Amino acid sequence: QDDRIARIASAIRVIPNFPKPGILFQDITTLLLDTKAFRDTIDLFVERYKGKDISVVAGIEARGFIFGPPIALAIGAKFVPMRKPNKLPGEVISEEYSLEYGSDKMEMHVGAVQAGERALVIDDLIATGGTLCAAIRLLERVGVDVVECACVIELPELKGRDRLGEKPLFVLVNAPGA
Ligand code: PRP
Ligand code: MG
Repeated sequence: QDDRIARIASAIRVIPNFPKPGILFQDITTLLLDTKAFRDTIDLFVERYKGKDISVVAGIEARGFIFGPPIALAIGAKFVPMRKPNKLPGEVISEEYSLEYGSDKMEMHVGAVQAGERALVIDDLIATGGTLCAAIRLLERVGVDVVECACVIELPELKGRDRLGEKPLFVLVNAPGA
C-alpha cells in the first residue's frame, strides 16, 4: 500500500502560481498519464468501499467526474454527477457555497437518489472543504446517508477536514498548501 501511495504522490504534478500568484496547483492530469498510478488510485478507493453497501457515488464537477465513475462501476453503485449551475437539463435541487471570492452553486437532478440510500462523495482535492460540504448538504437534504467523502489529495493547512465536522474523510495524499 505504501509504495502505491508514494507512486501516486509522485505522479501528481505541482505547478506554482497557477491559476494565480501564490497558489501551488495540484495537477492530477499527470496522474492520469501514469497507468499504474491511476489504476492504483482507483483500486485503493475500491478496496476501501467494496462491500460497504454504498449505492451512490456522487462525483463533483469537474475532477470528481474522473475518479467517481470507475469506482462506482467497481463497487456496483450508480454514479450521480454534482454539477455547476445550469448544466443539468432536468429538474434540479441546488445548494450555494462560498468560494474565496463570491459564491457558486452546485446542482443535482431530482430523482437521481432516493431517501435512505448510502452515498460516497468523491472529488480530486479538498482545500477549504466548502465544495464537499455543499455536496453533503445537497444529498442530506433529500434523505441520503453520506457515509464518507473521499479525495485523492488534501491540503491540510486549509483545514477543510475541520469544516466537515464529524463526516469521515478519506484521502490518499497530503500536500502542502500554497
Ligand atoms: C477545486 C477542486 C475541488 C475544490 C476544492 O475545484 O477540484 O473541487 O476546488 O476546494 P474547496 O475544498 O476549497 O471547496 P474547482 O472549483 O477549481 O473546479 P474544477 O474541479 O471544475 O476545476
Ligand atoms: Mg473541483
